[in-house]
Amino acid sequence: MAAAAGEPEVIRDKAAMRAWSRRRRAEGRTVVLVPTMGFLHEGHLSLVSEAAATAGPIAVVVSIYVNPSQFAPTEDLATYPSDLAGDLRKLASTGAVHAVFNPPDLYVRGGTAVGASAGAAVSCLEAAVGGDGHETWIRVERLEKGLCGSSRPVFFRGVATVVAKLFNIVEPDVAVFGKKDYQQWRLICRMVRDLDFAIEIIGSEIVREADGLAMSSRNVHLSREEREKALSINRSLANARTAALNHSNSASEHIKKQIVQTLTEAGGQVDYVEIVEQESLVPVETIDRPVTICVAAFFGKILAVLVGDSPLEDG
Ligand code: PAJ
Repeated sequence: MAAAAGEPEVIRDKAAMRAWSRRRRAEGRTVVLVPTMGFLHEGHLSLVSEAAATAGPIAVVVSIYVNPSQFAPTEDLATYPSDLAGDLRKLASTGAVHAVFNPPDLYVRGGTAVGASAGAAVSCLEAAVGGDGHETWIRVERLEKGLCGSSRPVFFRGVATVVAKLFNIVEPDVAVFGKKDYQQWRLICRMVRDLDFAIEIIGSEIVREADGLAMSSRNVHLSREEREKALSINRSLANARTAALNHSNSASEHIKKQIVQTLTEAGGQVDYVEIVEQESLVPVETIDRPVTICVAAFFGKILAVLVGDSPLEDG
């Protein structure tokens, strides 16, 4: 059991963060990182509990940074919710966080912003930096495509790159990610394997509201009516699970159609419904092995994403 951490130290500078981590490691502690974009809820705090459960003497770091390179200029970077004071209060109340890394900016910005060349997919970062600015990207080439990557072509490139930057700055031994963002978690595991980061990645279970909606910082933007409708995602997944378990029809196409129908009838605009192998995220035609059902739909302007694990293992 780790000692209570008390008030976390807030660190804003990259070099100071790295020096802090190295000191903790020199004391014999395991450094555990929980990367977030802030506006914390119980889902994020469950990752902190997971981090705190790491064996031996530990130092838990939570990063709070809204990363511009994973947002397209058409997305909600400008309105992404934030409440640093509230976040710090919540983290302090866990008694399990030793430091909060909250950098004002993580990117090198140089020259005059040139904007996008016609047709190229760019992020908010490139829309703001010029020729001398950041230009190095990590692409997890296959896993970044499909599912959330189809409608958000710069998203996973931005996630992989900022997480690699955080890993280089914080130098953690362990990092915790939520399975709510299933593709993100799998992609980070693959990046760590492929690029030899000496970091253990822990996947943490989804935390839901009492009514079943997965907790998300963006849920605050849902109206009561949209929220009600968004619950159709859970309903559609529960039905799909029952259908798969009963083996009434294990053809993916059939089950996907049923999910799309439930979502559409509830007023959702379906982004994707896919049934995939759990590690490779390759779509399966027949549900004859453990799979993950991934669903994303817009309710109002908000994209609600949900994953359902392994219908075959549930029986
Ligand atoms: P953010 O959306 O703030 O989420 C931070 C972490 O919390 C992610 O690992 C996410 O999967 C996890 N999380 C969010 N809601 C959860 C829930 N209801 N149950 C369990 N875990 C949950 O994901 C990001 O930030 C960013 O892409 C980031 C990885 C920080 C890179 O910028």
